[in-house]
Amino acid sequence: MAFPPINPAFPHLWHGGDYNPEQWLDTPGIIDEDMRLMGLAGINSASVGIFSWAALEPEEGVYEFRWLDDIMDRMASAGRHVVLATPSGGKPNWLALKYPEVRRVGENGLRDPQQTRHNHCLTSPVYREKVLAINTRLAERYKDHPALALWHLSNEYGGWCYCDLCFAAFRKWLKEQYETPDKMTSAFWARFWSHTFTSFEQVTCVDRSVHGLSLAWKRFMTDQLISFIQNESAPLRQFTPDVPITTNLMGTFPMYNYIKVAEHLDFVSNDMYPDWHGERSLWREAVAVAFLDDLYRSMKGGKPWILMESTPSSVNWRPISVLKRPGMHRLASLQAVAHGSDTVMYFQYRKSRGSSEKYHGAVVDHVGHEHTRVFREVSQVGADLAKLGDLCGASTDAEVALIYDWENEWAISEAQGPRNEAKNYEETVREHYLPLWKMNVPVDVIDSVQDFSKYKLLIAPMLMMLRPGVGERIEKFVASGGTFVATYLTGMVDENDLCFLGGFPGPLRKVLGIWAEETDVLRDEHSQTVTPVDGNPLNLPASTKARHLCDIVHLEGAEALASYSEQFYAGSPAFTRNVFGKGAAYYVASRNDEAFNAALIRSLVANLGIRRTVAAETPEGVHVQERATADTHYLFVMNFTETQQTVAVGADGYTDRLTGAAVSGGAVTLAPYGVAVLAKGL
Ligand code: GLA
Ligand code: ZN
Repeated sequence: MAFPPINPAFPHLWHGGDYNPEQWLDTPGIIDEDMRLMGLAGINSASVGIFSWAALEPEEGVYEFRWLDDIMDRMASAGRHVVLATPSGGKPNWLALKYPEVRRVGENGLRDPQQTRHNHCLTSPVYREKVLAINTRLAERYKDHPALALWHLSNEYGGWCYCDLCFAAFRKWLKEQYETPDKMTSAFWARFWSHTFTSFEQVTCVDRSVHGLSLAWKRFMTDQLISFIQNESAPLRQFTPDVPITTNLMGTFPMYNYIKVAEHLDFVSNDMYPDWHGERSLWREAVAVAFLDDLYRSMKGGKPWILMESTPSSVNWRPISVLKRPGMHRLASLQAVAHGSDTVMYFQYRKSRGSSEKYHGAVVDHVGHEHTRVFREVSQVGADLAKLGDLCGASTDAEVALIYDWENEWAISEAQGPRNEAKNYEETVREHYLPLWKMNVPVDVIDSVQDFSKYKLLIAPMLMMLRPGVGERIEKFVASGGTFVATYLTGMVDENDLCFLGGFPGPLRKVLGIWAEETDVLRDEHSQTVTPVDGNPLNLPASTKARHLCDIVHLEGAEALASYSEQFYAGSPAFTRNVFGKGAAYYVASRNDEAFNAALIRSLVANLGIRRTVAAETPEGVHVQERATADTHYLFVMNFTETQQTVAVGADGYTDRLTGAAVSGGAVTLAPYGVAVLAKGL
């Protein structure tokens, strides 16, 4: 099945990125050159205006749109389109100095000087008013412009402000949520250390020792961002109801709940700067990237997402920012498309001449011409994407969902104990993703508040916080035939971060058929041994080394499939299964090694008949991902290794869209970093 294109007026894969012509207005010939080079590189899209506020409104209420008119017109006449940004990510000096309230206040109570970017107050009425004014001008002016394809709100919204305005709004928000100081005190367990609230006015800081309060602050800041977004979006929705709105998010950035934010966007965008050729092996880095890609594809129910930023060569902000090796850019770009992006966009089109990003990778380097390795590689991607236009909107059907839950991440990161080092929430979710990636099983990565009733297998590692209804929904999922996997540190706190009384895993105790009494916390140099029971129904390794965390559990209806072999709890269950209704629920009590996770997930995939994109095993470091429209099935065959690989795709009838070659013998051979996009009519 296929979703509509991001904007039906531009029904192809978008290729382009952040373009800052306002930095070059006094350099003769540059804009002409930019347009020529875009043509050579197969660039059909540019994100313009992201930090242009001072160029658009040089003085309060004085607007200057001529340079932007020119860019919009040139893009349209070249048959290209513009992702037009609202400029709120960087504030002009006149604004920040005349109205200090727009500048953020730190937790130390000090107001920021006017510097850098992404540091405005989300609450300030003045900032909201000024943003509304400039956004209204932009929307009015370009509402009928043929180049306008998408709105790009601000840039990488991030961070919190602790000013009086924010705190006043926070207190109001708390009152709406909790009604009385007494109810709030109870919800936060604030009688602890004598922090009982007798009035909302007593909330004057974000006391990190009161977990309910710091959780409330994150929820409040998420809501402030959403109302800021609504304020930014109002004129855009009014003047351009058919132009979709997005903002560029940042992976699993924890300061706002992105799942809630995404509800207010038409499409989600992600900025991706993987550490290719960094500390992890290439294919392990690819797994981490694919996990995020699948998360973004799943955020809005499988709708294509937007790769808004990536670098054509290197970033400049890692301690060591390695250049993408030849071929890597193409592979990385098509990986995003394989996992549901309908764009490949960059930061940045032309490398800026000065200031902090002058050494950041770009399509056009300081040398200024097209005869560079990076330009050639970008042009290759442009040519590839042009051959894949009919892929637009193609979807991926998954039978497996993995839960990565934003607010659960908050609960885990706020918690003191049971183990404060290597809490590893995201890593643990990814460790369960890795075997699925290796087996080429399509996966959705969802939040616990999203619907999971359609999946065959639901894996929820470390779901410490269970918000209202989640336990019940999981129970229903299993009762009606689903298979559920939970791990240690599950079902411990409710939505206010208060522990469930009466035994962990709280609301999941019945469906899992166990009681987790204690958690043994292991030092780094220690391990526990996990041994399967006789018969070993899931083909677990003969013995597994568990690390960091081992829950000590009692069976309450479940059966043990493996047990611990060491310590005072030797012989007690380490891995359990509870048949419940038509389904089954598994509890993985310890943090196991890769071999255990692989065996567990392999067996579940086989036993549940979960579809693999290709049935045969693929070589280590190779991944095959699929997308489909109503009439075409696509296989992306990707080689994240530095050696040539031959991959059995199982069937003929596919044609490599990039080379035009028909697949014969049911296999393709890929060069190091090679990628093939195979297509077949349905
Ligand atoms: C972020 C920003 C861009 C740029 C890049 C550099 O993603 O959105 O403006 O600074 O980082 O990698
Ligand atoms: Zn503020």
